[in-house]
Amino acid sequence: MIEVRHLTKRFGAKIAVDDLSFNVRSGTVTGFLGPNGAGKTTTLRTIVGLAHADQGDARIDGVAYRGLPAPMRQVGALLEAKAYHPGRRARDHLRALAVAGRIPTSRVDEVLGIVGLSDVAGRRAGGFSLGMAQRLGIAAALLGDPPVLLFDEPVNGLDPEGIVWARNLMQSLAAQGRTVFVSSHLMSEMALTASHVIVIGRGRLIADSSIEDIVNGSSRTSVRLRTPEPELVLPRLEAAGAVVARNGDGAITVTGLAAPAVGDLAFQAGAPVHELVTVQASLEEAFMELTQGAVEFGAGAAPTGGALAGAAPATWPTATQAPWASPGAQTAPGPEEH
Ligand SMILES: Nc1ncnc2c1ncn2[C@@H]1O[C@H](COP(=O)(O)OP(=O)(O)OP(=O)(O)O)[C@@H](O)[C@H]1O
Ligand SMILES: [Mg+2]
Repeated sequence: MIEVRHLTKRFGAKIAVDDLSFNVRSGTVTGFLGPNGAGKTTTLRTIVGLAHADQGDARIDGVAYRGLPAPMRQVGALLEAKAYHPGRRARDHLRALAVAGRIPTSRVDEVLGIVGLSDVAGRRAGGFSLGMAQRLGIAAALLGDPPVLLFDEPVNGLDPEGIVWARNLMQSLAAQGRTVFVSSHLMSEMALTASHVIVIGRGRLIADSSIEDIVNGSSRTSVRLRTPEPELVLPRLEAAGAVVARNGDGAITVTGLAAPAVGDLAFQAGAPVHELVTVQASLEEAFMELTQGAVEFGAGAAPTGGALAGAAPATWPTATQAPWASPGAQTAPGPEEH
């Protein structure tokens, strides 16, 4: 279990993490989501004592990282894929970490096998691809067989087979009762890997919920209704507070009411129901909606003219102009200067 309490971290005038509190439970994979610059890496670094909190604190099983008697056996972290000396061979890098952490060096070959690097263990890590470096970082995190694991964008650079492998690894670590906290920008992947997510924006907590609740709470989750008597049921749906749109294909999209309520209203109206389906938002749609006011580095208009002229629309959608942004949504400022 990881507990973050009122964590605040400033870099000069910039508040990277702002009074952030949440728990990460054991036995499940918890995703850590937020736009670029939201404060995810800073939070993870603070949890493992690499950054000093200005206020608040983070505890691992009730103890601050610096108070852990055998930190590598209690928490494993992958924060930076290429955090090794490039001239060191993969096996030697892990052996050095094992010695420093008082972990038997026999564990090195075990973790190399787990991450699929046994065949390249004798190669200098400086020549590793990003995906290989991520695997070596995961091996380092697993060295002490710790009950708590933190991964900062671990699937970045992994090939499709590697992504599936990382997902299965994280889920099996969680199934063993460990605490697994993983940041990612790949929403479809997170939806498959994690069951709970912490969402932050501009250093503040936006959501701490199950993926199911986040998706069901999205205004993009809707109900598709098909009836030969739409005129009977539409007024009742609107009177019940639903937003109703007729699709070109004859179906009706209802937002703001769950499928059972829509079905009941159709029944009361005497309208036959030919189709009644809940259309769930994707985690990506829900994430965009949740964080639309907290995007610091939203894309501006793409350049026009030149080779792309005619191939792209004059103005590409930005985070706040995208179709899911509600009218009057807060406008994200442009890139911040540091
Ligand atoms: N060492 C530092 N010095 C100055 N500012 C920093 C430092 N580390 C982080 N920041 C700032 O703190 C904010 C949060 O950065 P952080 O790296 O934690 O975000 P993030 O959520 O991990 O983003 P990303 O998704 O891009 O990895 C950013 O504005 C960043 O510029
Ligand atoms: Mg980061």
